[in-house]
Amino acid sequence: MSLLILGGTGTLGRQIVLQALTKGYKVRCLVRNFRKASFLKEWGVELVYGDLAKPETIPPCLKGITAIIDASTSRPDELDSLKKVDWDGKLYLIQAAKAAKIKRFIFFSAQNAEQFDNIPLMKLKSGIEKKLKESQLPYTIFRLTGFYQGLIEQYAIPILENLPFWVTNEILIFHTWILKILRNFVYVHYKFLKQLIKHSF
Ligand SMILES: NC(=O)c1ccc[n+]([C@@H]2O[C@H](COP(=O)([O-])OP(=O)(O)OC[C@H]3O[C@@H](n4cnc5c(N)ncnc54)[C@H](OP(=O)(O)O)[C@@H]3O)[C@@H](O)[C@H]2O)c1
Repeated sequence: MSLLILGGTGTLGRQIVLQALTKGYKVRCLVRNFRKASFLKEWGVELVYGDLAKPETIPPCLKGITAIIDASTSRPDELDSLKKVDWDGKLYLIQAAKAAKIKRFIFFSAQNAEQFDNIPLMKLKSGIEKKLKESQLPYTIFRLTGFYQGLIEQYAIPILENLPFWVTNEILIFHTWILKILRNFVYVHYKFLKQLIKHSF
């Protein structure tokens, strides 16, 4: 069985790639940047160029593929392309998957996405879930909560630097609490390091 994985350079995607390779699957990854994805090639993955924002790049990536695992999403620092990637691109991917007679389409959505219509990414996730269900493709949808691997990169840095990030209200309260702890931790260690440097010279 040959898998096409989208989002292989991402937090979840790279773990899926590792698991798939360990289990002996033939893995191809659709990537936007070969240099950034070079670690996947070293693991034994076939890299193909593709970009969800450029639909014409998608069909050639599907040749000889049995199942698609789509763990991609637009990066928070590329919010301008949110609709292009998480809506237009995914709709096109579903169409292309049908045309290529893909045997299973695995999609990663977010928990209770339909309850957060006010959050653009959640609205798109919920919409894609519907389109996938209507597509007549065999599908699996995972509805995930937030990943703690991304605590620093996805939440702490954007919050500290006033950059955009995705969050629902309940999680925000929890993350703000964790961030306070992190901030104190960094501050205490920063003071300690400063003292250490002062006394070393
Ligand atoms: N992180 C969470 O807490 C969380 C929570 C719920 C659901 N999810 C869902 O779980 C999945 C994986 O999330 P993640 O946090 O692992 O994502 P991530 O680390 O942000 O990675 C996003 C991936 O999508 C790729 N991508 C972005 N724009 C693309 C485009 N135009 N064409 C093709 N690929 C593109 C990125 O490639 P580049 O390396 O080239 O940028 C990267 O590999 C996503 O569907 C996400 O919505 C995540």
